Amino acid sequence: MKKVLAIPGSLRRGSFNRLLLVEAQRLQPANLSLEIYNGLGSLPLFDQDLEAPASPLPQPPLDFAAQVVAADGVLISTPEYNHSIPGVLKNGIDWLSRTSVGEPLIGKPVAVIGASAGRWGTRLGQTALRQTLLATEAIAMPGPLLFVAEARKQFDEGGRLVDERIVKSLTAVLVAFERWIDTVGPRR
Ligand SMILES: Cc1cc2nc3c(=O)[nH]c(=O)nc-3n(C[C@H](O)[C@H](O)[C@H](O)COP(=O)(O)O)c2cc1C
Repeated sequence: MKKVLAIPGSLRRGSFNRLLLVEAQRLQPANLSLEIYNGLGSLPLFDQDLEAPASPLPQPPLDFAAQVVAADGVLISTPEYNHSIPGVLKNGIDWLSRTSVGEPLIGKPVAVIGASAGRWGTRLGQTALRQTLLATEAIAMPGPLLFVAEARKQFDEGGRLVDERIVKSLTAVLVAFERWIDTVGPRR
């Protein structure tokens, strides 16, 4: 069984990106076990002074890093904010990129998906996220890609995806990600 930490890049109640990850849990292949990370909102704003020896590191970033270490892969579902990613997600990744928490993204298989209200379905947001992930030395899966556009129309009242094509695409991402985790292998 491969453990995947699934990170929604939004704090919003009713976030479409969180719903997308809940759907990913429902559709997960037999050998994948997704756990949704709910802690982005409890991470302090990154500040290098918090890493100074005189200031013991706050616990939430340490816990976040430990969850990433324990996972075989990380699946991020990001909204698009102003053609980029939300600050809360960038803040979380900035924490994970630091030696003070062990740089747990180095060599980590990561998959990126996203949902937005607009017509382009987070194309620019996901591109910005991939650029940031490059700096962390995470190993981002190049494809298949999933851009959920006009997200308000894509979920029913129970949070289920209504479009079978999106269900198929999400399933394809998960199946490919299981293979990607094998391809990348554990961190050496
Ligand atoms: C500050 C802000 C900036 C946004 N910028 C964009 C954008 O550049 N492109 C886009 O498609 N949607 C944009 N949106 C709309 C989001 O796609 C929409 O709020 C979406 O529901 C956010 O994801 P969530 O449902 O997971 O919270 C923006 C929303 C906010 C709050």
